[in-house]
Amino acid sequence: MNASASATWKTVWTDAGCASELVDGGAGLRTLIPGPGGEVCAFVVRYEGQNFAYLNRCAHVPVELDWLEGAFFDDTGHFLVCATHGAMYEPKTGLCVDGPCRGRSLEALDCRIDNGRVQVRRQQRSAHA
Ligand code: FES
Repeated sequence: MNASASATWKTVWTDAGCASELVDGGAGLRTLIPGPGGEVCAFVVRYEGQNFAYLNRCAHVPVELDWLEGAFFDDTGHFLVCATHGAMYEPKTGLCVDGPCRGRSLEALDCRIDNGRVQVRRQQRSAHA
C-alpha cells in the first residue's frame, strides 16, 4: 500500500449504527473499518453517558472480544470482558485491569455522533497497525 492510500484509510469515518441502540453498560455496536491489511472489526460501547470505540481485538491474542455479537460488558456492566480467556478492560480507557494481558490496552478509535448515527475511525497514530 502506498503512502496516499494509507493516508486515506486512516481518516475514513465508518458508520457503526444508530446511537439509540447503545445501552449504557450493555449492548454495543460492531462494524468493520478499513485497515492497512483489509477490514478489521471495531466496536462502540456506551458507559457513564459517553461513547467509547475500540478495535475488536483482545490485547492477549488477536481475537474478537464479544461472547455474543455486541455483548462486551461483564455482568456488572462496569468492565469489558474478553470471551476467550476473561481479560477485563476499563470501558473508558481500554486498559486491561485483570486477566492474561493485564497492563496492556485495547486500541482506541475516534468516535462521534452524526445525525444520530455512531461513526468510528482509526486514530492517526495507529498508522502502523
Ligand atoms: S484472547 Fe482475550 S483474554 Fe485471551
